[in-house]
Amino acid sequence: MVKKRVGVLVSGRGSNLQALLDACADPAFPAEIVLVLSNVPGAYALERAERAKVATVTISHKGFPGGREAFDAAMDVELRKAGVDIVCLAGFMRLLSPGFVQSWAGRMINIHPSLLPSFKGLHTHAQALAAGVKLHGCTVHLVTPDLDDGPILVQAAVPVLADDSEESLAARVLEQEHKAYPLALRLIAEGKVAVDGNRAKVEAPGFGALVNPVP
Ligand code: GAR
Repeated sequence: MVKKRVGVLVSGRGSNLQALLDACADPAFPAEIVLVLSNVPGAYALERAERAKVATVTISHKGFPGGREAFDAAMDVELRKAGVDIVCLAGFMRLLSPGFVQSWAGRMINIHPSLLPSFKGLHTHAQALAAGVKLHGCTVHLVTPDLDDGPILVQAAVPVLADDSEESLAARVLEQEHKAYPLALRLIAEGKVAVDGNRAKVEAPGFGALVNPVP
């Protein structure tokens, strides 16, 4: 099996990166992480990559000359140099320019902590509590130029409990993120996803949705 080469873009603690690293440690997993790129110097995700002996690059966006397009072009150079086939955004907290997104179309995926299209943007758990929804969760989707948009690959749903705080809800969702992201990467790496308009059709029966009972 020729493994797909994955570049992971991060900005923070990197728990989703860790889930992907752990999945890739299985010799039967169809992908390997070849580069972790951070826009934040010293992000804890970089330590996780180093521990797993994966190459890292930091390109700080602060004071980067030339604006967003130039910053994205610098990331693109690193990804191409590493021979990356698939890009995973894992807590990468920066908007991407349309040109960069276009050049990775169908090969760039993101995890978002809500059941999209509900609760785009930031503070998704607070948004869910304020809206009073009874189900919340996370989504892994193909990246398109619009924020938190694009064909959905995998969603995991969790209950919202009466006494939930933002933190308790976030923790319940995060646990599912760590299952949903490796599953979605596997589907993309194995070429099991066909995109039809805004729908990603997964040719693997039973994949795509993780529904969790009340704990
Ligand atoms: C995760 O909850 C991820 O879904 C979210 O940031 C967190 C990163 O945690 N991403 C977004 O909000 C992107 N819109 P991690 O660094 O531990 O993976």
